[in-house]
Amino acid sequence: MALRAKLLGTGRAVGPTCLTNDDLCRIVDTTDEWIVSRTGIRERHIVGSGDDLCTSDLCTEAGRKALAAAGLEPSDLDLILVGTVTGDCKFPATAVFTQAKLGARNASAMDIAAACSGFVYGLELADALIRTGQKKHVLLIGAEVLTSMVDWTDRGTCVLFGDAAGAAVLGPSDDETGVLSTYTKSNGELAELLWAPGCGTLRRLSPESLANKDHLIHMQGRHVYVNAVKCMADATQQAMDRAGLTPADVDLLIPHQANIRIIEATCERFGFPLEKTMINVDRYGNTSAASIPIALDEALEMGRIHKGQVALMTVFGGGFTWAASALRI
Ligand code: ACO
Repeated sequence: MALRAKLLGTGRAVGPTCLTNDDLCRIVDTTDEWIVSRTGIRERHIVGSGDDLCTSDLCTEAGRKALAAAGLEPSDLDLILVGTVTGDCKFPATAVFTQAKLGARNASAMDIAAACSGFVYGLELADALIRTGQKKHVLLIGAEVLTSMVDWTDRGTCVLFGDAAGAAVLGPSDDETGVLSTYTKSNGELAELLWAPGCGTLRRLSPESLANKDHLIHMQGRHVYVNAVKCMADATQQAMDRAGLTPADVDLLIPHQANIRIIEATCERFGFPLEKTMINVDRYGNTSAASIPIALDEALEMGRIHKGQVALMTVFGGGFTWAASALRI
């Protein structure tokens, strides 16, 4: 049995169309100043309706890069996990389309529906399966094309989101590197504060549900904001406690990139300086389940975190779900 799962390689893919705040000013009544001051977002990369790409295409591109970084072939994978709530279709899972596109013929594949927390939820699962020896090599992906379910007339939500996939290949570790702790939590009593209620069995697809825009994102922004700060702080503390870490032991905080003010509030609570915090929300917006893995991939690429150092990932999202994990690179 392995001691834990470790990171073997990462990769990312982003939507091909860049949408700036000025572009959004032509769609809804907003300003660059409002968006930047309230969210920190300057531009996002989206999959436009003319781009002819679906979620599994982003997963496949990110997955190929992660496999190349790990020095592994698709046939080496035992499991593909995709955290997403904007899959290619209702069923089967986006993970199986990704499996087919990669040619990962030895893997099983399934999705995890935990909204923004999907990647860290998947990390807990992958770590457990690798520790017990049930799986050896897991491709874990967080991917979202949330702009496919944005109401482009709602200025309170349409300015927030971008489309991307981030991937990590995980394998067994027998040394000090790898997943030091995970923590996951949810509270379904607050589900209606951030959801897309239509098109399932709750409110079936009908002319009325379409007219009500039930299939699009509905969000109570203020409530989401308050809960995000509270829950990301809870998750951060829990992940540090479980790994026996203090904030001083964390070399890089990788928070969910939803909003710069949520990130700053989380840092402030633990005394994490912004220099020790990964921030790319200005360039990508909120990419939900992809946010943490694309930030991790960029942090490694930029040399913000090195082998042997500790990254702490913390996230909050629809459900509500929240989670954190300490990872020694
Ligand atoms: N441009 C200009 N004005 C706007 C815009 C916009 N894009 N959006 C909202 N407004 C207006 C509102 O209409 C409102 O005007 P009114 O007072 O005349 O009614 C005013 O700004 C204030 O609206 P609020 O919603 O109260 O603004 P708030 O300061 O809360 O900021 C925001 C809104 C940025 C959405 C904030 O609530 C937030 O960040 N919440 C967290 C949401 C989030 O990150 N969700 C992502 C999914 S969950 C996750 O990933 C954590």
